[in-house]
Amino acid sequence: MTTPVRPINLFEYERLANQHLSQMALDYYASGAWDEITLRDNRAAFERYKLRPRMLVDVSQRDLSTTILGQSLQLPILIAPMAFQCLAHPDGEIATAKAAAKMGTAMVLSTLATKSIEEVASVGNQTPQWFQLYVHRDRALTRALVERAYAAGFQALCLTVDAPLLGKRERDTRNQFVLPSGMELANLATLTDLEISYKPGESGLFAYFLEQLNPALTWKDLEWVQSLSPLPLVVKGILRGDNALRAVEHGAKAVIVSNHGGRQLDGAIATIDALSEVVAAVGDTAEVLVDGGIRRGTDVLKALALGAKAVLLGRPVLWGLAVGGEAGVGHVLELLRDELDLAIALSGCAKLQDIDSSLVLRL
Ligand code: GLV
Repeated sequence: MTTPVRPINLFEYERLANQHLSQMALDYYASGAWDEITLRDNRAAFERYKLRPRMLVDVSQRDLSTTILGQSLQLPILIAPMAFQCLAHPDGEIATAKAAAKMGTAMVLSTLATKSIEEVASVGNQTPQWFQLYVHRDRALTRALVERAYAAGFQALCLTVDAPLLGKRERDTRNQFVLPSGMELANLATLTDLEISYKPGESGLFAYFLEQLNPALTWKDLEWVQSLSPLPLVVKGILRGDNALRAVEHGAKAVIVSNHGGRQLDGAIATIDALSEVVAAVGDTAEVLVDGGIRRGTDVLKALALGAKAVLLGRPVLWGLAVGGEAGVGHVLELLRDELDLAIALSGCAKLQDIDSSLVLRL
């Protein structure tokens, strides 16, 4: 018997995870919208940015800790909201939450989680947890989600604004994506009978969005969302400076530059390319985070150099979860943290505050 080789980077986790997932789950996690141009460009764009390291700086003591929304984190890498984590591992979002807590970072729990808000909150320890919100047509249901998240101790509300309808992921259409029997939307099933179920010729999730989510949401609804709890509002899915400013004017304390992992509007700009404009527009009126395509510590460094306060990591967390549950997620986070630690040292930075825009150049 050969001993399995432990992955040494996030790409190796992706390859290994492919062996642990059903075709339906793998396609759901991996796919982007339509031709997957944005999905690929999120990665390719990072390669267009070059680093300009500073030499002969004392980097013997390094510190990756930061604060976001006044909340202390041990590293500037949060876990992005991702649906249906029990498709990757039976412990699903619980395993992810435990790994995040051990690493001292925040997990953003999806509205479409397969573990309950209260169960996930119970493993949070000292690290903050945020709740991602999809505004449903049913306002009472939406209100109940926010109230539960607040009562359970979640510390921010992350409103996704790039999904009035679900992007068309053709692999899911082909598979007629459904949740396996016995797996449910843990935070919605008890409220009403909401299911991701078989729809002829369609992804069940696409149909769910069409039926359940409110496609009429506009800026003025941000006040309503904020009236539901005292939680600080984070607006996720911004790709333009003017929209970022508008989010801040409507009360957002942070914005996440995101194209939903290339899963919504194909052809949308890569997030690292959109970041500078957003940072310039909001100035110091809000914090800016970014997700999409982050696979290396140098990607995190580039994002921070372009003005992000932190990044969110998406799919690689699922690959870790599929391969090794909580330990797999923990190892993925450790790998990225250690790469970031090395990358900042080699760039002449001892702490995150030493990182500035002069470190990066787009060629
Ligand atoms: C859910 O939010 C998805 O993008 O699949």
